[in-house]
Amino acid sequence: MAEAPARGRSTLTDRSSVGGEISELLEVVNREPACAEAPPALLDSAITPNDRFFVRNHFPVPTIDLQKWKLEVGGAVARPFELTYEELTGRPPRTLRALLECAGNSRRAMYPPAEGVPWKHGALGAAEWQGVPLSALLSEAGVLDSAQEVVLTGADRGTEPGVPGEIAFEMSLPLAKAQEPDTLVALRMNGEPLSAIHGAPARAIVPGWYGMASVKWLTRVTVSNEPFGGFFRTQSYVMIPEGPDTGTPVLPVTTLRVKSMITWPGEGVTLAPGSYAVRGAAWSGESAIARVELTASSSKTNGAVERWLLARLLDEPSTHNWSRWECPIDLSEEGHFVLRVRATDQAGNTQPAHAPWNYRGMSTNSIHAVRVTVRR
Ligand code: MTE
Repeated sequence: MAEAPARGRSTLTDRSSVGGEISELLEVVNREPACAEAPPALLDSAITPNDRFFVRNHFPVPTIDLQKWKLEVGGAVARPFELTYEELTGRPPRTLRALLECAGNSRRAMYPPAEGVPWKHGALGAAEWQGVPLSALLSEAGVLDSAQEVVLTGADRGTEPGVPGEIAFEMSLPLAKAQEPDTLVALRMNGEPLSAIHGAPARAIVPGWYGMASVKWLTRVTVSNEPFGGFFRTQSYVMIPEGPDTGTPVLPVTTLRVKSMITWPGEGVTLAPGSYAVRGAAWSGESAIARVELTASSSKTNGAVERWLLARLLDEPSTHNWSRWECPIDLSEEGHFVLRVRATDQAGNTQPAHAPWNYRGMSTNSIHAVRVTVRR
């Protein structure tokens, strides 16, 4: 009998096994389901081009026949209905720029290590999304007064440890978040129809929340009278402080924490002595960035932080998007340096040196550090 192909057996350069669409520019972190991230140097533009935009799938990319595809809107509503792709594209569109960051981004920096896909710092990107506000569809359906949440269901299915049978990828939003004007059923990404790997023909975009809420391959929007108990909402995208079996109450992962990253220079590079402009990006969930600061500590001071320099924001701070920043720095002396960046948002939230450890390594926003060597 032929052996079933084992997960993760082929080489990391074999991209055909991950839906055939993973760009050569991305680093494949997991083959099936496909997970791929951008090297930080490629995240240097205001808008992340589609071929530099990270991919995070839990199950294989579903095969969808556009002629048969429908979006159902139902549950606790007065007038449930279905829309074809043509009908959805005929609705008044809304276009916005929003950042998407996976809740597990930077998990590799968590110490001690945490469970999950070992993302470095590239599981994020900012895109221009176009689609129909979810609120318009909900109003059309007539949400009942008893409604609490909106459940978004994707067409992709698979198995998860400890869960009987196959499940779909599903996530819920509180009704108020689902009704925000920027929460979209998106059809286009950076001016192009969504690609299969990013959720064609339609996906949710939930600005301000971690990426898990932006459900791809959307097929159903269900208004619910009670909190949703699905696996991804109650077991997967949750903060578990002390390990899986302690009985400690878990909290759902929702809003993005304030965070920043250095996109240049790259980790471990050697530079000639001189003056440089360090570059990067900073963002937060429900608040715009107020300031970004950079520090360089060196082997000469035994790593002690001397002073924080104020970076210049290159983009108008925006609640749902990142602001790129630049900070001149004097690296004229030879030595080993650690560059650290720290962002503070307009609500006063700032990044910790070490984000609280949690079992699944979610929402890590520890200060990003990059090591460089200055040598003649
Ligand atoms: N939607 C479906 N249907 N299935 C998924 O596996 N992954 C989620 C979200 N939507 C996922 C999904 C997660 S965890 C993230 S971070 C984003 O999609 C990633 O979106 P991208 O692959 O377009 O970058």
